[in-house]
Amino acid sequence: MYLLIPAAGSGRRMGSDRNKLLLDLLGKPLLAWTLLAAEASQTIEWIGIIGQSIDWEEFKAIVRSLNLTKPIHFIQGGSTRQESVFNGLQALPSDAAHVLIHDGARCLATPTLFDRCSQALESCDGFIAAIPVKDTIKVVDNGAIVSTPDRSQLWAAQTPQGFSVPLLKKCHAEGRQNGWEVTDDAALFEQCELEVRIVEGEETNLKVTTPVDLAIAEFILRQRLH
Ligand code: C5P
Repeated sequence: MYLLIPAAGSGRRMGSDRNKLLLDLLGKPLLAWTLLAAEASQTIEWIGIIGQSIDWEEFKAIVRSLNLTKPIHFIQGGSTRQESVFNGLQALPSDAAHVLIHDGARCLATPTLFDRCSQALESCDGFIAAIPVKDTIKVVDNGAIVSTPDRSQLWAAQTPQGFSVPLLKKCHAEGRQNGWEVTDDAALFEQCELEVRIVEGEETNLKVTTPVDLAIAEFILRQRLH
């Protein structure tokens, strides 16, 4: 299985002036934990890290320090996540039939989750890892509630997300042509009216976005390592 890791963002919401994936989490940069989980997965055989050139040197040092056995490719990121993934898709070998896409910032995803996701692509063309939402969600406009969607139908999207490579390339091309701006790849599939299945994600698979997330991630990792 091919894995693309979007890692070309910044640390804006983290209040950091550098890529949050370079921040320390229990003695290793955040990105190192993501890479170690991918390395330990039984199904992933190829890893593409999508990053900004300013981070190359540090990314390469991380990869060297981990002694990874799987081939690692460095791919130029774009100005949005969507553009970064587009670049990643162009960098896949021409015979790649399926791909998993996993945000570098979700550094607590387990190897088992990666393998469950790889398996899902044996029976569908598109899926996302997701978990049922725990909170009641409100749709708000201008400071007031517009509606309360039925919670039993709401799932929080995570990554990995996985797709047939030719179909996802087609959806990205269509998205660029029509100016669609999306925050995940499933949304492009949806816009193209292709089915996206759900794979049970992990409650601990949080996306490290703010300083509080970093503290929670540290707590979870400490529990795992004991
Ligand atoms: O900012 P956010 O955490 O939502 O980004 C999700 C993932 O997309 C992160 O792993 C980030 O590094 C990546 N990203 C990217 N290229 C961008 C912006 C974000 O690869 N231009």
